[in-house]
Amino acid sequence: MRILSGIQPSGALHLGNYFGMMKPAIELQDKGEAFYFIADLHSMTSLFNADERRRNTIEVALDFLACGLDPSKAVFFKQSDVPEVTELTWLLSTVTPMGLLERGHSYKDKIAKGISPNHGLFAYPVLMAADILIYDSNIVPVGQDQKQHLEMTRDIAEKWNRIYGETFVLPEPLIREEVAEVPGIDGQKMSKSYGNTIEIFGDEAVVRKKIMSIVTDSRPPEVPKPDADQNLVIRLLKLVAPPQDAKEYEDRLRAGGLGYGKLKEALFDYYWAYFAEARKRRAELQKNLDYVHAVLRDGAAKARAVARGVLQRARKACGIE
Ligand code: ADP
Ligand code: TRP
Repeated sequence: MRILSGIQPSGALHLGNYFGMMKPAIELQDKGEAFYFIADLHSMTSLFNADERRRNTIEVALDFLACGLDPSKAVFFKQSDVPEVTELTWLLSTVTPMGLLERGHSYKDKIAKGISPNHGLFAYPVLMAADILIYDSNIVPVGQDQKQHLEMTRDIAEKWNRIYGETFVLPEPLIREEVAEVPGIDGQKMSKSYGNTIEIFGDEAVVRKKIMSIVTDSRPPEVPKPDADQNLVIRLLKLVAPPQDAKEYEDRLRAGGLGYGKLKEALFDYYWAYFAEARKRRAELQKNLDYVHAVLRDGAAKARAVARGVLQRARKACGIE
């Protein structure tokens, strides 16, 4: 079984990225042949600063390795180190209906947020389909917002297979219900573009301030809160605290007598402890960037070997080889 996922180097990674995609992906590295990559080509559709992309790419590599991605189990690489993927993107784009891309939520959302509608942004799902299909991927762990991209990938693969004969494996998304959409400090989906994130490796004082500013209501501490399970702080606490501890806080909030300030302080402490080991590992890795570069280089060589084979299959299927 091949498992594949990617993440863009477009900014510091946050709890939504971690619980929605990275943690499931890291757990799956023991269950099959895992391929994980840093989607630097995708980041070009919305980030136009070369230094920032270079810096973010290394930051994402550090984050992923610190969080437990094990390069002896998973193949870890940079998307652009496998140029075969851009050739496959062209082949796939010739069977991708315009209507399919025009219905893309992600494209429409990004334009609504003011990102300029360049061709790369429009064709983003075709590059993503190539990423997935070029490794014969079976399972793709992602957050809810990527579901439509997986459906598009399947549509494109099916269409190709109908026209040129069985070429591509159809992938399945893996979306964990309980973390499909981690909320940000304002209650919307946690996302870099909403400025509502809690970074995995954020600065202590900055994260503390963000957690203390999580949106709550004005009911005083002593008032019982029958809707305690809906409380944003409780929802985040459930991610980083042991289940029994989170439940205790939820019960205390429901009963009345627990103030939001105290609850937020508890959330900060659990968050800080949750990533303590990873924070140490990250500091170590940071001193050894040669190792990080070597991991990505080795990963690219392994990924390329697979990509070449699948690309050749596609080239033969469509008659350019
Ligand atoms: P962002 O919205 O911050 O730009 P990305 O689009 O780069 O995040 O997402 C990278 C991965 O993390 C994707 O698999 C995405 O589904 C997942 N992800 C991002 N935000 C969340 C969230 N709030 N909850 C669950 N998963 C998320
Ligand atoms: N579009 C994904 C995101 O923004 C990143 C990505 C690119 C990806 N290629 C992929 C995810 C292939 C899974 C599989 O998060």
